[in-house]
Amino acid sequence: MGKVLVTGGTGYIGSHTVIELLKAGYEPVIVDNLCNSKIEVLNRIKLISGIKPKFYQIDVQDKEAMRRVFEENEIESIIHFAGLKSVGESVQKPQLYYDNNVGSSKVLIELMEEYGVHNIVFSSSATVYGNPKSVPIVETDPVGEAASPYGETKIIIEKMLMEYASTHKDANVALLRYFNPIGAHPSGVMGEYPTGIPNNLMPYITQVAVGTLKQLTVFGGDYPTRDGTCVRDYIHVVDLAVGHVYALHKLEEKPGLVIYNLGTGKGTTVLELVHAFEKANNMKINYVVGDRRPGDVTECYANCDKAYKEMGWKAELSIEEACRDSWNWQSKNPHGYE
Ligand code: NAD
Ligand code: WQD
Repeated sequence: MGKVLVTGGTGYIGSHTVIELLKAGYEPVIVDNLCNSKIEVLNRIKLISGIKPKFYQIDVQDKEAMRRVFEENEIESIIHFAGLKSVGESVQKPQLYYDNNVGSSKVLIELMEEYGVHNIVFSSSATVYGNPKSVPIVETDPVGEAASPYGETKIIIEKMLMEYASTHKDANVALLRYFNPIGAHPSGVMGEYPTGIPNNLMPYITQVAVGTLKQLTVFGGDYPTRDGTCVRDYIHVVDLAVGHVYALHKLEEKPGLVIYNLGTGKGTTVLELVHAFEKANNMKINYVVGDRRPGDVTECYANCDKAYKEMGWKAELSIEEACRDSWNWQSKNPHGYE
């Protein structure tokens, strides 16, 4: 149980993972440049866990500054969340995404070599499967044509880490392909608050619920699914966070390279999620069914048997619990961490 460098540790998934790492007895060391998160997150982590983890406000691309983190801490493993994640923005500013996401991963890999750190968990995404030929998606399904520069960065970083694993006999790499994280810490003090108008469905729903936004547009009602809306695999962020602790335990067995889908294994339509939210929180969401959003795939959900078989991890929390926790967070923090 040693020090774990958590890049992007003040972000949405990173902050929840820090809580689970502390619970499991690890010592997280957070690096984040705060480009998409707030320093207040550290106070919230303390509120939940009683511990304020060590924090460095550093851009992971800054190798010199990152060296300091490795010099000052005996890092045993890394969980690499840091990255930009807006699909739409990546289409507008592809170079920014390649520089930031691929660039920071390159620096990390070089520092792993320099400081003899062998274990890394990487935040990959279901987006690497592109438009899946069949669902549920298994890890051996082909990595597809990326739908965006963002997706392309995930494919490239996965390849860099695969090559790193194949050329370093001591390396242990876990590529975790997340499906759609939703929900918040059940305490209501930590959650997701995107800057600007949310791209993702759940923060959009909660901002309509809290009155910040007027109406949700459901993107497309004419897909060949049970109610005409797209199917996704929504996973509670706490389940996802716990998955990272299991992945660290797995890496301690020195498996070399491992790849896991982290989802629930269950597909949910957009309207099912909206109705689950309404039911869980006893309220109505103002929505209208509009045009399709370009680039959306009809169905995307995971087969997560491999993560269960090899790590013993599976998602435990329901969509209803995620809806309740998302609303608990949003209603208590209508402006996020501001
Ligand atoms: P987030 O934006 O909340 O967290 C990412 C964090 O990284 C932020 O705190 C940001 O300030 C930081 N960051 C970005 N670039 C940095 C850099 N160069 N140096 C230091 N810090 C930097 O996003 P999240 O939802 O928590 O996602 C975490 C990771 O998981 C990302 O890599 C994302 O691509 C991946 N992922 C997210 C989802 C999702 O739907 N949320 C799905 C699949 C994969
Ligand atoms: C979910 C469903 C929308 C907003 C994205 C990234 C993916 C991964 C997770 C990082 C879709 C519908 C949404 C709205 C809607 N991230 N929707 N109205 O597109 O599955 O995945 O986040 O790796 O790479 O692409 O998630 O939350 O945007 O959409 O009807 O206002 O909700 O059409 O069917 P998506 P999402």
